[in-house]
Amino acid sequence: MTDQDLAKQAAAQFALTWVQPHMILGLGSGSTIGAFIRKLGPLCRQGLPIRAVASSVSSQTLAEQEGIVVEPLETVHTIDLTVDGADAIDTQFQVIKGKGGAHTREKILARASRSWLLLIDPTKQVEDLSHTPVPVEILPFGSHIAANAIQSLGFHYTWRRQQNQTLYITDNQNYLLDLSPPLPHPIDKIDPLIRSIPGVISTGIFLSFHPTVAVGFPNGTCTILLKDP
Ligand code: A5P
Repeated sequence: MTDQDLAKQAAAQFALTWVQPHMILGLGSGSTIGAFIRKLGPLCRQGLPIRAVASSVSSQTLAEQEGIVVEPLETVHTIDLTVDGADAIDTQFQVIKGKGGAHTREKILARASRSWLLLIDPTKQVEDLSHTPVPVEILPFGSHIAANAIQSLGFHYTWRRQQNQTLYITDNQNYLLDLSPPLPHPIDKIDPLIRSIPGVISTGIFLSFHPTVAVGFPNGTCTILLKDP
């Protein structure tokens, strides 16, 4: 295992201490959450009574394989705790997510959650988010028009592709653009600017959230960071 994998395991192990019986638990996406789900599964099989909602088909599939009861989001109004990963987080707790293509559903879960616990390894901590690519989910219909509009705002982008080079399709049946760094506008201006373009579904920028951040380390320890109220 690499140091980064060990750090993700440490954060995932810590997250188990936040899970309480009878919670409705939001499951984010990505490899760190995969580690969390694999640790949570045995506890559920041993009788820990929780219900989960998932932010992606891959997390739902893994959770069900691991013996976690996953319910449709439509049956749930409030989530007690969502545990998720991140691609980059700055000192003001501003976050970029979506490298795994699930940021739209992740944002919906985060908004519906009483607590939002982000599990990261130290490589995700950055001074400045302007050097991190920003995923943007767009509707296939007229996607070239939306992409041109994004370009005219000064952004460079690439279309997210699958390994066979066909366009990546999200769980919502949409496309993804990845805005390339350096970003031409301040991070707090980008989300509203991009979302004003017809056909844009959402960006991977999470600004006005209050995460608790668990930073895992390769030696198995974990540091907790909390945004000032
Ligand atoms: C999924 O769309 C993302 O937001 C992930 O949460 C993020 O990319 C972190 O992934 P890893 O845990 O694999 O680093």
